Amino acid sequence: MKIISTIEQERAYSEEAVFVPTMGSLHSGHLSLVEKAKEFSCPIWMSIFVNILQFNNSEDYTNYPKDLNKDISKAEAAGVDVLFTPDTNYILREESLEHVSSGHKGVILEGESRPGHFDGVLTIVNRLLDLIKPKYMVLGRKDAQQLFLIKKKLEEKYPRTEFISSSIVREDSGLALSSRNKLLSNLAIETSAELFKCLKIFYSSFSSGDSVEDSRAKAKYYIDQYPKIELDYLEIVDAVSFNEPRKDTFGYFILIAAVVDGVRLIDNIYLEKKNNKFYVDLGTNLTGEGNK
Ligand code: PAF
Repeated sequence: MKIISTIEQERAYSEEAVFVPTMGSLHSGHLSLVEKAKEFSCPIWMSIFVNILQFNNSEDYTNYPKDLNKDISKAEAAGVDVLFTPDTNYILREESLEHVSSGHKGVILEGESRPGHFDGVLTIVNRLLDLIKPKYMVLGRKDAQQLFLIKKKLEEKYPRTEFISSSIVREDSGLALSSRNKLLSNLAIETSAELFKCLKIFYSSFSSGDSVEDSRAKAKYYIDQYPKIELDYLEIVDAVSFNEPRKDTFGYFILIAAVVDGVRLIDNIYLEKKNNKFYVDLGTNLTGEGNK
């Protein structure tokens, strides 16, 4: 594996790449993105850059887990060909930084609780795409709103890059893998698995014909039993527009965000309706089996 901190000398090679952007602190969720990237038979590039622009809170940035040495070993073992670990000045040079606005869909849900977060994400992903110009970019479905906004705002600008999404990876308990889980106590890890159960209650109720309101009420009743979980939002949206679902909606995200033990966590379930039947993607667990 080659480790680089500037792109110039690698530029021609990068254009054939399948690219996995990360903020490091790699876990099996990131490694599943690398596995997905292998499907494209191109050199696999991964970036590790903890993007200060997407933290609306400096304490959150300071506490964000960072361990470059471990990340290098994990990336190499996973089969990454080029690891791009730029320094902040190289990436955030004002003269080459185009600030990208996430618009009105960037200030709802996650964006409402984390002002400026999605502008920061889009600004950095735009910079990385402009530098690397990969053939494919692989992103996790856990950050559903991020995925939606990246596609909406950057797909047209980078027509030769195909945006690929990959399913959520979960602990056996159902807890979605996240670098932030490292900040949770053992007890909080157990409690956090309730977020997925809450999503499943929403999904079962909705897919058996209950209204959005009734489905949400049942799921909320469940999660409210856990005083350690401070619920931020529990919503269902049309996956294509991030608006409220309509009669003709075919893909849905059921989204949850909560703070547990001072740590903000998000999760979601993706479902599709075909011929009045629902198909759900609950993600896979660490042993590669589907979740129930
Ligand atoms: O999902 C992440 O880890 C980050 O938001 C990303 C896409 C690497 C941009 O910093």
